[in-house]
Amino acid sequence: MRRLLVNAGPIVHFAGEGPLTGNNMLDDEQIIEPGYSILIEDHVIKQISPTAELEEEFNSTEKVDLEGKSVIPGLVDTHTHLLWDGDRSREVRWKQNGMSYKQIADSGGGIVSTVMATRDASNARLTHLGVERLREALRNGTTHLEAKSGYGLDTETELRLLDVAANLGKFEGLPSLDLTWLGAHASPPNHDIDSYTEELLSDQLPAIIEQGIARSADVFCEPGWFSVEQSEEILKQSRDGGLDLRIHIDEFVDGGGGDLAADLRVQSADHAHRTNLAAREKMNEAGVNVGFLPGTPYSMGDKFPDFKEYLDEDWIWSYASDFNPNCQTLSLPFLGSVLVQRCEIDPLASLAACTRNSAETSPHPSGLVHGRIQEGAIANLNILDSKHWESWCLRPGSTPFSATMIEGELIYH
Ligand code: NIG
Ligand code: FE
Repeated sequence: MRRLLVNAGPIVHFAGEGPLTGNNMLDDEQIIEPGYSILIEDHVIKQISPTAELEEEFNSTEKVDLEGKSVIPGLVDTHTHLLWDGDRSREVRWKQNGMSYKQIADSGGGIVSTVMATRDASNARLTHLGVERLREALRNGTTHLEAKSGYGLDTETELRLLDVAANLGKFEGLPSLDLTWLGAHASPPNHDIDSYTEELLSDQLPAIIEQGIARSADVFCEPGWFSVEQSEEILKQSRDGGLDLRIHIDEFVDGGGGDLAADLRVQSADHAHRTNLAAREKMNEAGVNVGFLPGTPYSMGDKFPDFKEYLDEDWIWSYASDFNPNCQTLSLPFLGSVLVQRCEIDPLASLAACTRNSAETSPHPSGLVHGRIQEGAIANLNILDSKHWESWCLRPGSTPFSATMIEGELIYH
C-alpha cells in the first residue's frame, strides 16, 4: 500500500551511514526545510521530495496532511529491562535516608526482590506487563527497543523471560524488539557471585545459546557485582556461542569496565558514568558506542556526568532509558529534556543520540536501516505536535507527538 505524508514541517532526517559525532551531531544539514512530503510504500520510506512534485506524480495516492508539523525519526531505545514484576516503591525513602544502591540490595531490596516477584509471575502476567510497557514506549515515540532478561537469575526463568519477550515481538503495531540475555545481573538468593558465575557458564549460557532467542549477552560489570575477570569470561564464552556483546560499566565507581569494553569491542558500553578519561579514549578508538543512561542518576538523586565532554571530544555516544524497577521511565523525550534542559546538550545532538546513533547498536529485525528518515529505511517516524522540531524534548511528562508511524502504520496519540 502507498501513502503520502504531505506538507511536512522541518524533517530531521539523519540520513547516512555510521554514527554521528561532535559537530556533525549539531549540523543543521540534517534538517529538510518545511514543504516536503514523504512517500511510504508498504513498510518502507520510498521518496522524500517537495510536496508539489510528489502530489503531481502520485495524485491518486492516499494522503495525510501534516499541516506543517515537524517530523523526526522513530526513537530507538537500546537499553531496557522490559520484563519484571513487583514494586520497589518503598525504596525511595530508603534512598532519601541515605542508603546506597548496594545497601538496599543487601537489605532485601534491589534486583533480588524483583527476581522473587518475577519468578512468581505467570507468562500471561508478564505478557500483559510487556504489552502495557511497549504501548507506553510507543506513545513516547519509541519504535524499536532492546530488551534484556535478568530478573530470573536461574536457567528456567531466564529462558522463560526471553520466550515471553520473543512472543511480544510478534504483536503488530508495537515497537520491534532486540533481545539480550542478562543472566549476569546479580547473584540470586543462596548463591554468591563466584558460584553463580560457574553456574552461568556451565548451565545457563549453553541453554540460552541452544534456545536461540537472545541476539546479545550483557553483564553488570561493577565492583560488588560481577568483576572484570568474571565479566570477561562470561562475555567471551557468549561471543564464542554466537552472541553479540553489550555491557553495564562504571555505574557507581570506575571499576575498570571501560578497558574491558574496549578490549572486547562490545557493541554498546552502558552507564559509563564514572569511567576514566584513558578508558573513554580507548573505547572510542575501539569503535565502542557509549550508551549513557541519564534516567539512572535522575532516579538515584545523583549528579549527571559530563555528557558534553563526548561532543567536545568527538566520541561515539548514544543514550537510552534503562527502564527498570528503579528507573521507571520509557520516555526518551523526557530524558532528552534532562540532557537539553539540565545538561546543556544541544537538542539536535540529543536527538541524534537516541535515533541514528542508538540504532547502530541494535539492528531492526527487518534488516532495513532505522533511526533515520531516508529512502529505503523502515517507515518508522514521529509527527510532532508542533512546527518546531526542537519541541521533541520540551514536554517532560507528556508525549510531544501527535502520531507515530511504525512500519508504515500510522498511530495517533
Ligand atoms: O542498569 N544496574 C544494574 N541494572 C539496572 C538496575 C536494576 C535494578 O535496580 O533493578 C541498571 O540500572
Ligand atoms: Fe541497565
